[in-house]
Amino acid sequence: MASKLALFLFLTLSCSVHLLVSSFEFQVGGSNGWVVPPANDTKIYNDWASENRFQIDDTVRFKYRKDSVMEVSEQDYKNCNSTHPNFFSNTGNTVFRFSHPGAFYFISGVSGHCQKGQRMIVKVMMSHEYETPPPPGGHPGKSSAHSISADSSSGLLSLVLVQFVFSYVASCLF
Ligand SMILES: *[C@@H]1O[C@H](CO)[C@@H](O)[C@H](O)[C@H]1NC(C)=O
Ligand SMILES: *[C@@H]1O[C@H](CO)[C@@H](O)[C@H](O)[C@H]1NC(C)=O
Repeated sequence: MASKLALFLFLTLSCSVHLLVSSFEFQVGGSNGWVVPPANDTKIYNDWASENRFQIDDTVRFKYRKDSVMEVSEQDYKNCNSTHPNFFSNTGNTVFRFSHPGAFYFISGVSGHCQKGQRMIVKVMMSHEYETPPPPGGHPGKSSAHSISADSSSGLLSLVLVQFVFSYVASCLF
């Protein structure tokens, strides 16, 4: 019974740790993707970015056609200067990962698009303060498999355990 309690606690903890540390992917501009904004709504990307909470290891996905994405300095963002980006992609489907906190500046590399508002500032926060190291004592999968087989004579407990594992998996997925 003690091993079941330990397993229960382990699964509960690992599930919540998993939720805390898992990264998130944002689709820039929603279903419209990365495009030149309409003339009467040029701030759509910064409005979108300011409504979201970005953390280290999160990613942004840019989807576009006949366009490109650059990550540039603040100065180059302000001037729409695309001559020396830190990062450049024109594959049509670009994923950019935030490796450190602070501001990231994105512009379109296509002439004139940045000036029309196809640019975005993303502010990335420190995160994962609650990250905990993996539990000591080696491979957790091994010990849980052991505790299930050790108590296999008790059908009801195993059933409860199986149901718990399912709800654990479901809660991590949704
Ligand atoms: C921009 O103009 C379009 C049509 O010209 C209109 O449907 C839309 O509501 C306008 N958006 C804003 C933010 O004014
Ligand atoms: C872009 O930046 C480069 C290097 O800093 C500079 O030489 C160039 O004049 C800039 N171009 C514009 C249009 O600001």
